[in-house]
Amino acid sequence: MKIKKNCKDMKENKVINSVPFLEGNIVDLCSINLEHVNLYNKWGNDPNVRIYSRNVIPWNLEEVKKWLEQQKEGIKTNVIFEIWHRNDKKPIGTAGLSDIKWFNRNANLYVDIGEPEYWGHNIAPEVSKLLIDYGFEELNLHKIYVGIYSPNKRSLRAAEKIGFKYEATLREQIYIAGEYVDEIKFAIFKKDWLSSK
Ligand SMILES: CC(C)(COP(=O)(O)OP(=O)(O)OC[C@H]1O[C@@H](n2cnc3c(N)ncnc32)[C@H](O)[C@@H]1OP(=O)(O)O)[C@@H](O)C(=O)NCCC(=O)NCCS
Repeated sequence: MKIKKNCKDMKENKVINSVPFLEGNIVDLCSINLEHVNLYNKWGNDPNVRIYSRNVIPWNLEEVKKWLEQQKEGIKTNVIFEIWHRNDKKPIGTAGLSDIKWFNRNANLYVDIGEPEYWGHNIAPEVSKLLIDYGFEELNLHKIYVGIYSPNKRSLRAAEKIGFKYEATLREQIYIAGEYVDEIKFAIFKKDWLSSK
């Protein structure tokens, strides 16, 4: 695992105290940076971004900050990253492993690209692969899963490209845009991931 240069905020042309924790080709995954909390707030409230992330209650800047601060306390069950676009030198979303069960060694993987112009550029597969490597090879997880809502065709396709395997369909599990839709569960196991590399 290499940890190299600082992430730079070219707009303000200054180093903003966040280093790439996981390095990819298109994006790096950096620690959450509270200087970008206004962006996190924007993404969390944007109807196009939040629809399949199920942020159904609006949240303001103070609530986002407070939530992020709380993540540092107690036993970690959530590892959150900022997705940093290497060429464009800016944050474009968040991703992480949530609901980590340390005894059972499993976790939920999520990717939220907050800037829609970056959708369809193979970024979620790259982010997911970084998170899966991290989850299996650093956190020693046994199983990583995702839950995708049936209308979210982009996520379904991305899960397929990453190599997630179908596990189950939870019928009419989620209420989205006026109708009950299925949640489709996919998972990947450490032994399968490592042997496929
Ligand atoms: C969903 C999301 C994570 C996908 O990330 P991404 O980086 O855009 O994923 P990809 O680049 O692999 O592109 C999606 C794939 O779906 C395909 N796709 C897009 N719309 C589609 C549709 N309506 N039907 C079928 N396939 C579709 C694309 O063609 C692409 O596949 P391809 O590479 O084989 O051409 C991203 O769009 C996002 O963050 N959205 C907002 C938040 C969100 O919904 N998060 C997920 C919650 S589970």
